[in-house]
Amino acid sequence: MVNIAILGFGVVGSGVAEVLTQNKSIIESKLGKKVNIKYILDLRDFPGNPFEKLVVHDFNVILNDPEVSVVAEMMGGSHPAYDFSKACLEAGKSVVTSNKEVVANFGAELLEIAKKNGVAYLFEASVGGGIPIIRPMCNDLSSNNITEISGILNGTTNYILTKMTVEGADFSEVLKDAQDKGYAERNPSADVEGLDAARKIVILAALAFGKSINPADIYAEGITNIDTVDVKLAEKLGYSVKLIGYSKKIDGKILAMVSPRVIPTSNPLSSISDVFNGILLDGDMVGNVMFYGPGAGKLPTASAVCADIVDVIAHAESGIKLPTFSVADTNDVFDFSTYVCKRMFVCDECSDDIKLLVALESNIVTQGGKMAFITGEMSEKEAEKICKSLPACKAYRLL
Ligand code: HSE
Repeated sequence: MVNIAILGFGVVGSGVAEVLTQNKSIIESKLGKKVNIKYILDLRDFPGNPFEKLVVHDFNVILNDPEVSVVAEMMGGSHPAYDFSKACLEAGKSVVTSNKEVVANFGAELLEIAKKNGVAYLFEASVGGGIPIIRPMCNDLSSNNITEISGILNGTTNYILTKMTVEGADFSEVLKDAQDKGYAERNPSADVEGLDAARKIVILAALAFGKSINPADIYAEGITNIDTVDVKLAEKLGYSVKLIGYSKKIDGKILAMVSPRVIPTSNPLSSISDVFNGILLDGDMVGNVMFYGPGAGKLPTASAVCADIVDVIAHAESGIKLPTFSVADTNDVFDFSTYVCKRMFVCDECSDDIKLLVALESNIVTQGGKMAFITGEMSEKEAEKICKSLPACKAYRLL
């Protein structure tokens, strides 16, 4: 029998207990072993909950129990989640997690500790909720040089954008709805300001390019500056507006960033709505592959955590191949101010001067006193200069 412990009995932690209970027979028949939840660590008590008796408040009970070989960390936040994960790995226990904050900030170190101790540190649920993406990148695409990653990586913001633009719903009401559905972070500003997506693109970039960049060091912009009129203008030009995590190696250096982007309707990411995520990878051998599915929520995320639990148990004797990446230094990181792409400019209909500043490559469309058009390629520095000179002007990057 394999004994596991769950750290954190919130949305995802309780989902993991539910998946392991509801699909116990399918999991155990695949493994040929019994799987038992021995402890659930949480600060709270859960009177009346079927898992009530498993709840402990002292992490040391789990750490010092040699019968616990797999720990599923779903606490959220960096501390004490990082400290507990590290202690478990050092004690010879494998750790699986949905905690993108810990993976993005400490993943390289925790993988190293796992390897030294002959155990696993797996994080399938840290990106894309229920979508299998980490394992396919590490295994199925391992003979490819991944050249570019673009993705809708945050379910909450995609849900908000969809409800606001398709149904005309109010921002704060939809955010509350996303929180009630268990999609949003404890502090939803991490979702709406782009930090959650920044953590996720950093994890994907680390897997693709072997270097992990601190999420605080990348350009990350959320959805708070998107106006409904901008979305309507983009639609008139044949684009949709999505919050996109993007990474690419340019001149041997890694660019990773998060921002709203206008996407041509021919790009499959453009039609992804609600809480769904989509990740488009370009491999030099396979070409474009897309991963699509529910990007947040209790059972989808728990499904990915449980896949890691099953993987750890299945490879307990043979050993599991873990991802490898190291911490990037400043020489590894592309200078964002020199990043070049086409833009959709949105400005007041009367701002005729703008036409003199950019090479127009498309029609001008208008809506609600605003006009929009697509420019030629220009760097961040150039786009910023134009926006500063025309206060009513906004620039959206094209994907
Ligand atoms: N808050 C996250 C999201 C949860 O909305 O995508 C899944 O990581």
